[in-house]
Amino acid sequence: MYFDRAEKKYEALRTKKIVKILAIESSCDETSIAIIENGRKILSNVVASQIDIHKRFGGVVPEIASRNHVSAISNIYKEALSLAKIKENEIDAVAVTYGAGLVGALLVGVNFAKSLAFSLDVPLIAVSHIKGHIAANYLTYDKLTPPFICLMVSGGHTAILKINSYNSHELIGTTVDDAAGEAFDKVARVLGLSYPGGPNVDKFAKEGNENIKFVSHSPMSGTYNFSFSGLKTAVINYVNNQKQKKIDVSVPDVCASFQSEVTNELVAKTIKACKEFGEKKLVVAGGVSANSKLKATLENECINNGIELYMPQLSLCTDNAAMIGSAAYYMLKDGIGLADLSLTAKATITL
Ligand code: KG4
Ligand code: ZN
Repeated sequence: MYFDRAEKKYEALRTKKIVKILAIESSCDETSIAIIENGRKILSNVVASQIDIHKRFGGVVPEIASRNHVSAISNIYKEALSLAKIKENEIDAVAVTYGAGLVGALLVGVNFAKSLAFSLDVPLIAVSHIKGHIAANYLTYDKLTPPFICLMVSGGHTAILKINSYNSHELIGTTVDDAAGEAFDKVARVLGLSYPGGPNVDKFAKEGNENIKFVSHSPMSGTYNFSFSGLKTAVINYVNNQKQKKIDVSVPDVCASFQSEVTNELVAKTIKACKEFGEKKLVVAGGVSANSKLKATLENECINNGIELYMPQLSLCTDNAAMIGSAAYYMLKDGIGLADLSLTAKATITL
C-alpha cells in the first residue's frame, strides 16, 4: 500500500544527508512550484502570478484563480524540474500548501501533489501556508534558527507569535477583525488604486505627507491584539466626505497617513513583545513585509532596542512554493506532517 511505504520512506528521510523536496503552492492567485534542498537551498522556484488577470476585477476572483491554476500547473512543474536540473526520480518528497486560502485554488495544488506523490511513490507533506511564510526567512538567512518573535503580516493573517522551535509556537496577539494586508487592499480600492492594493499604497505614500489622523487612539491598547477595521472605515469615510464636499482627496497623503498608522501599531506592539519575552531576534513574515515604511520603521526601532531584525528577501515576501519546501523540510526533520491520499484543502487554519 502507498501509505505504508510512504511512512517508512518518511522515517528514512529524516536522517538522509541530502533531501530534495518538491513543493507546491496555490492558495490564492500565484501558482508556484519549487525544489528545495535541505530546507535552505533553492534549486528552483517558479512563480506564475495571475495579478494581471484579476486586476480588472479589483481583486482575486476565486473561480478564475482555480481555473488558471489548473491550466498553468503542469507546465510550471516541468519548468521547476528543468531549472533545478533534476529528474523526477531524484525527488524525495512532495510538499503542498493545504490551507489557509481559497479552497478551490488550494484543491488544484493538493490534487496535483497527491497524484505526483502517488505516481513517484514518495511521501506527501501537508504544509500550512502561515508556517511557509515564516520559513521564507530560513531561505533568506541561512544561519537563522528559532527561537524568535515573529510578526506575521499577510493578506489573511496578522499576528505576533513566539516561535519556540521550527514546529512549535505560542500566539501572543492577533487581529480581532481585518488582517493588515486586507486593510491595505480595501483602502487602495476606495482610492481607486489597482489590485493588489498594498504595493500601490506603498508607492503613493512615498510622495505624501502623514498629516491626516484617522483614528485618535489605538483601539486595542494595552493588549497585543490588533484591530484595523475602525481605521479602514475611518479612511473610507474621510474619502467619501471629501468627495461629497467636492474637495480633492490627496491620494499620496491618505496613503502615507494610513500606512503610518498601521505601521506604528504593528511596530509598537511587536517591539513591546520582544522586550517582554526577552527575545533579541525579530522575524517578519507575509506579504506586507514588503512594505517599505514597515521595513524602515522596524529597522530603526530594532537598532534603538538592540534587536536583530530578519525580513524575507523581496521575492520571497509574497506567495511562493520555496517557502513551503523549506517549512516541509523542518516538519520532516521532526517527523510530522506526513499526509495520506485523503488530504484535502482547508480555508482556515488556526494560528
Ligand atoms: O502573504 P501574501 O502574499 O498572501 C497571503 O498569504 O495573504 O500577502 C498578500 C498581501 C496583500 O494584501 C498585499 O496587498 C500585501 O500583502 N502587500 C503589501 C505590500 N506588498 C504586498 N502591503 C503593503 N505594502 C506592500 N509593499
Ligand atoms: Zn501568503
